[in-house]
Order: sequence, then structure tokens, then C-alpha cells
Amino acid sequence: MNKGLFLSVEGIDGSGKTTTIGALDKRLVDEGYRTLLLREPGGTAIGEDVRRILLDPRHADMDPLCELLLFAAARAQLVAGVIRPALAAGMVVICDRFTDSTLAYQGSGRGLDLDMIRRVNRIATGGLLPQRTLLLDLDPELAACRLVGREGAGPDRIDAESRAFAERVRAGYLALAREESDRIVTIAADQPIPIVVDRMQEILREDLP
Ligand code: TYD
Repeated sequence: MNKGLFLSVEGIDGSGKTTTIGALDKRLVDEGYRTLLLREPGGTAIGEDVRRILLDPRHADMDPLCELLLFAAARAQLVAGVIRPALAAGMVVICDRFTDSTLAYQGSGRGLDLDMIRRVNRIATGGLLPQRTLLLDLDPELAACRLVGREGAGPDRIDAESRAFAERVRAGYLALAREESDRIVTIAADQPIPIVVDRMQEILREDLP
């Protein structure tokens, strides 16, 4: 039995996930919730090492199945080592990406079979799903403009994919949101950050203890 609340935030690269999640987390902490902010791939020492392999631009020849299984490996470690214990301790766990990313990127983006990905996801998570998923939806053209404005190193291996890839990922996400409308709520991410965060908080009112 989970006592805590498990949330995930999804969206294409440049949709503003990371910024809005940070702001949302701050508001929840101010309200007195005990939160845990995690990112996928990553969130554990092993997961961060796997992340480095996954995003390394030198691995342009990575096979989609290898990619899928590496994401799953990082996720298995995160679920068993961090998410389940945090939920058992009653925390609000906010994950920057989870299993829907794999369906959208490796499924709709790369073309792997969605049912096969669902099976792999289930093995990696032991069937754990977020109680609520917030999908930040943005036109890939606008998202690409935001990515260009980012400081630091160049694009990672997956950021560097084509616009057509981002379009497929977005369409995949929107299809998932239609199929699982009880869990996934879509938010227009072309609005100012505080407005997006207000909307996130409003949706979570019903879920938060
Ligand atoms: P992310 O941390 O959002 O990248 P950034 O720091 O650039 O915002 O995610 C890393 C990349 O991994 C992103 O391009 C999406 C991709 N990804 C998948 O393809 N499948 C997955 O299952 C996950 C979790 C991420």
C-alpha cells in the first residue's frame, strides 16, 4: 500500500518541464508537503551513470532496443531503491519523466512496438504507475526555440533528433492522454511559467492528501 502520492510530469524536450517542476515543488514544500523531486533517466548513482551513456552524442549508432532497455534498467533501480521507499514513507514523489516518456520516445518516436514497451515498463516498475501525470504540451517549433536559448553544452543525443521526431513524440503523448484520460491531464505549455504552475497546482488539489 502506498501512503504517499506519485506524480509524473511529461512533455517533449523544451516544453518547460524542469523549470515548472522546480517551481511547483517549491510551492508544495511551502504548503508543508514532504516532497521528493526525481528525474529520469537518473535519480540514483547507477541511473545517472546510465543517463550519461544514453545521452552521449558519441553513441549515435545506439540500437532502439538497447536504448529501451537502458531506460528500463535505470528505471528499475529508481523504483526499487528510491520511489517505493519514499512512497512508503508518505512522501509526494514528483518524477520528471516516467514510463510515458518511453512510450512516446521509443514507441511513437523510434517506432518500437507499444505493447512490447508496455511489457518492458511493467517489468522495470513492477506495475507501479503515477497516480497523476501532467503533460506539458507544446508545439515542437516553439520548444526548439527554447532549447536554442539554453546555456551550457550542445544538445544531447536525443535533443539532437529531428523536428519530425519531436512531432511524432508529441503526437504519441497526446494519444496516450486520450487513452488514459483518468490519469493524464494535458496543460498548454505556451503560457508564462507561473500560469502553467498555477494550472499544475490546481489539478493536483484533488490528488494531494
Ligand atoms: P530530460 O532529462 O528531460 O532531458 P533534458 O535535461 O534535456 O530536459 O530527458 C532526457 C532525454 O531522454 C529526453 O530527450 C527524453 C529522453 N527519454 C526517452 O527517450 N525515453 C525515456 O523513457 C525517458 C525517461 C527519457
